[in-house]
Amino acid sequence: MLETTRLILKPATIEDAENLFKLNSDPEVMRYTGDQKFQSTLEAQKIINENLIPQFDNYQMGRFMIFLKDGTFIGWCGLKYFPETDEVDLGYRLKRSFWGKGFATEASKVCLDYGFNYLNLKRIIGKAMPENIGSIKVMQKLGMTFRGYLRDPTDPQAFILYDIFKSEEHP
Ligand SMILES: CC(C)(COP(=O)(O)OP(=O)(O)OC[C@H]1O[C@@H](n2cnc3c(N)ncnc32)[C@H](O)[C@@H]1OP(=O)(O)O)[C@@H](O)C(=O)NCCC(=O)NCCS
Repeated sequence: MLETTRLILKPATIEDAENLFKLNSDPEVMRYTGDQKFQSTLEAQKIINENLIPQFDNYQMGRFMIFLKDGTFIGWCGLKYFPETDEVDLGYRLKRSFWGKGFATEASKVCLDYGFNYLNLKRIIGKAMPENIGSIKVMQKLGMTFRGYLRDPTDPQAFILYDIFKSEEHP
């Protein structure tokens, strides 16, 4: 469990399925993620069991569920390990009513701190679609550096790559 001034971050459990199902049911939330909404709470449970929990079991990292101090679920944020490329990715997704209040930046800071100072990672990346200004602003506020496009910029699926190294953390 991680804590910030306003937030509690917990590894996903099966009880989070309903919250994740509802979060992914908002097309505005999903717009720039490249992910599809879940068809049911059951599908969310399957993802939690097959992806989210094993990430923590295998790599001690994953997407944390974010709650306000009063217990309100607001979304998720966290690190994900990609064995194919040996890269660790920072990601975040919040319910629309909680956008624009600095929550993604606040949650991301504690996740970067966890990655660099607890897991001793050297580098963390972030990816966003070029139109996703909110996500890009979060990466910039975190002190991450623009590294270029992952595909041709004219490709509708072109993602922008940012990264940050342990030595640059929390500028
Ligand atoms: C991306 C997301 C997590 C940002 O969360 P957030 O808590 O609103 O982020 P923050 O408040 O920390 O910072 C966002 C900044 O971008 C700004 N912003 C957001 N959308 C913007 C837009 N369309 N144009 C200009 N600025 C924008 C906000 O005003 C804020 O700026 P500020 O720091 O000057 O106040 C949230 O919008 C979200 O969940 N989006 C849907 C899921 C998603 O796209 N995830 C990322 C996939 S790469």
